[in-house]
Amino acid sequence: MNTTLNDGLQSLSYGSSNAILLGIAIIAIALVLQLYDSNAKSKYPVVGADLKNYFFRAIRQRQHWFKHGPEIIHSSFKKFPNTIFTLPSLDRTSIVLPPRFLAEIKELPGTIGSNSHATSDVSIVIRFAIVKEKYADPAFKFFIGNWTTLDYDIFAHATIDAIKAQYIARIGQQIGPASSEASISVDIKASLSALSRTNPCQDDWTPIVAQPKILELVTQMVARTIVGPDICRDPEWVPAVIGYAQNVFMGAVTLKLVPKAAWPLVSLFTPYMYRIHRCRRTIRRLVRPVIEQTLAWRHEHPQLWAAKVKSEEMTTLEWLIETSKPEETNVPQMAHRLTGVSFGAAHTTSNTITNALMDLANDFERWAPPLREEIESIVGRDSSRLTNADLSKMWKLDSFLKESQRFHPPSKLSVNRKMMKDHTLSSGEVLPKDAHISFAGVPMSLSEPTFESPEAFDGFRFEKLRRNKETDHNGLQFTSSYSGSLHFGHGRYMCPGRFMGSLISKLLIIEFLQRYDLKLSGEGRPKNIMFFDMDIPDPKYEIMFRDRKA
Ligand code: HEM
Repeated sequence: MNTTLNDGLQSLSYGSSNAILLGIAIIAIALVLQLYDSNAKSKYPVVGADLKNYFFRAIRQRQHWFKHGPEIIHSSFKKFPNTIFTLPSLDRTSIVLPPRFLAEIKELPGTIGSNSHATSDVSIVIRFAIVKEKYADPAFKFFIGNWTTLDYDIFAHATIDAIKAQYIARIGQQIGPASSEASISVDIKASLSALSRTNPCQDDWTPIVAQPKILELVTQMVARTIVGPDICRDPEWVPAVIGYAQNVFMGAVTLKLVPKAAWPLVSLFTPYMYRIHRCRRTIRRLVRPVIEQTLAWRHEHPQLWAAKVKSEEMTTLEWLIETSKPEETNVPQMAHRLTGVSFGAAHTTSNTITNALMDLANDFERWAPPLREEIESIVGRDSSRLTNADLSKMWKLDSFLKESQRFHPPSKLSVNRKMMKDHTLSSGEVLPKDAHISFAGVPMSLSEPTFESPEAFDGFRFEKLRRNKETDHNGLQFTSSYSGSLHFGHGRYMCPGRFMGSLISKLLIIEFLQRYDLKLSGEGRPKNIMFFDMDIPDPKYEIMFRDRKA
């Protein structure tokens, strides 16, 4: 559990150490794919490896998707910019729609195109309980929640309602706790001394393996608002939450490599499932006393509770108690949903920050002075009293994050939905039940017609567009979306935590800019690791830090 998720994924993409599992996987995939090639059935053109032999095409297309997913997405979008096409994938029929369908898909209700079914699944417990019919057909989903525990219930309505109440309606209240946690934990200097034992200082520059460090910081900052100051600083919390996410990803990827019939066996042999449960036990143990105390207090003081809900700062734990049904306010279910919020927040936000720091370090002399000038013109050198209103004036910082995300969002595919029933588009084309649909988010934002030189990184691109009175201003802020920027999703199921992700990203980047100078440790910006449709910053890359000189 010491490695990060990104480490694990990297090792998987470069060759798994588990030879037996790989052997089983290869044989099983060969057998299953000979019998079943879902992509071959699609009526839309299938992209990917162009192999004539059916048997090998099925296998090779999937192998190719695993290793070359991002390139396939880019080249296919170039070939079919206005046509629906089918992407090969390991586990599902995946259909990519051209931008002209964005407006109609963004408003589809969850009963027709479900976002949560596209990522999660129904847990075994729920599957055999009363709601069985509602969530029947738990086909393959991205995180295979019925085995990895990242199930439909983790992002239930109560979870989303709690996130919206806290991180959308009351985002202004989060800045105090998050920024006090940032100044406590951002003391990179303290970590520097620990890290420098393995990475000796070079002159006054110190190399820091950025991604895992930022992941820890972000997990702790978000935890401050999720479970409060005591638990978030408990030395067991951050490793348990990070370990959970890492092992869910690795467990899901491992299972996807073998046919469904082999899952019970593979689950027994892969360590990921055991680790998932170990992390869950730790999380549950840590939150149990607070959940029990809060429930008891609410029971004894209903009026005080009602007043608190109206006017006071509340943690996600408290919001969840408020938004969940009475029969759901038990420790296991509350702990489960809290784990879901941490899961949604940590890697997405830390990867956003790591990417932005790499882009900053790539041309520090060009980007840092105007960013510092903007920050200092609003808050001076002391950012401890920063408000949300201050942040909203920092257009350059907002733009820099958006531009960095344009090149490196969490996924090359956006607005993912699972079709819950057949749906006919305005063009008359049919999206079949069970199909996974999405849009080619990154190629779309790299070919957006309103961008000048869209292939070039311009940190202040969106700031300039916002200042230009001629341009349509919709979607130009970091947390907003349009066809040129779909990386928080789009429409009614857009990421509910995006304002918090943005807040934490900005707080940390301000902290870094105010305290340190940055540079790359090698020539040119490091390449991200890409496979399937995923895009993650290299977890081993070292960014060079030194105390700020200017
Ligand atoms: C910069 C950081 C973040 C990025 C890039 C990001 C990105 C995304 C994306 C692309 C989606 C899918 C939207 C769709 O279905 O179309 C999503 C969903 C979600 N995000 Fe975020 N996110 C970030 C931060 C956060 C934070 C801080 C939280 C929690 C506080 C969070 C919680 C969630 C949840 C719960 C969902 C699932 C929503 C649902 O099922 O309806 N995210 N996020």
